[in-house]
Amino acid sequence: MRTAISALSLLSTLLFSPPTLASSSTNTSTFCISHAISPTQQNQIWDAFVQDFYIDKRVADSFHRYVVTDYISHTATSGSGAEFNVQHLEAGWPALDIQIHHLSSVEQNIGWVHYRIQGAPVFPNETAIVDLFRFNGSCIVEHWDVIESVDSTTTNPIALF
Ligand SMILES: *[C@@H]1O[C@H](CO)[C@@H](O)[C@H](O)[C@H]1NC(C)=O
Ligand SMILES: *[C@@H]1O[C@H](CO)[C@@H](O)[C@H](O)[C@H]1NC(C)=O
Ligand SMILES: *[C@@H]1O[C@H](CO)[C@@H](O)[C@H](O)[C@H]1NC(C)=O
Repeated sequence: MRTAISALSLLSTLLFSPPTLASSSTNTSTFCISHAISPTQQNQIWDAFVQDFYIDKRVADSFHRYVVTDYISHTATSGSGAEFNVQHLEAGWPALDIQIHHLSSVEQNIGWVHYRIQGAPVFPNETAIVDLFRFNGSCIVEHWDVIESVDSTTTNPIALF
């Protein structure tokens, strides 16, 4: 049986460490302000967000640069708001092992990333996540995710990857 678990929910149980970057204050006026841009510019912003959040794991910096303050997130056991998500992800996210397997370009304002994530205590087992983000112009405004983990009852030797 595969278990759906919430990254944001479980990460929220980790200790919150005060942010160290100047850009990660709780001053919400420093989050992204949407303006109209070309599809090429939107894809440049998407690539920059993926680099900053998933590869460099700069949670506060990536949200302040690329996510609107009233960010909507549909993660089942977490919630909306850019600052809320920064505070709940910041402590645990950088320690997780993340390998991106597939990455879309932005099409019709949606970009998605399919990745392998693992790291105790939140993801003790190999886990696959697809995150979908909706853009409005220059900023990310909404998020959905699908999460699946491998456990001892998984029969497929190539489960998930
Ligand atoms: C919030 O950030 C903006 C933009 O950087 C700045 O102009 C403003 O003074 C800041 N407000 C507070 C209360 O720090
Ligand atoms: C996009 O952002 C603009 C400026 O903030 C806003 O007026 C508009 O309603 C937004 N559109 C969508 C689809 O979210
Ligand atoms: C991880 O896998 C073990 C062994 O199959 C299982 O007992 C445990 O419930 C799994 N943990 C999570 C969080 O899925």
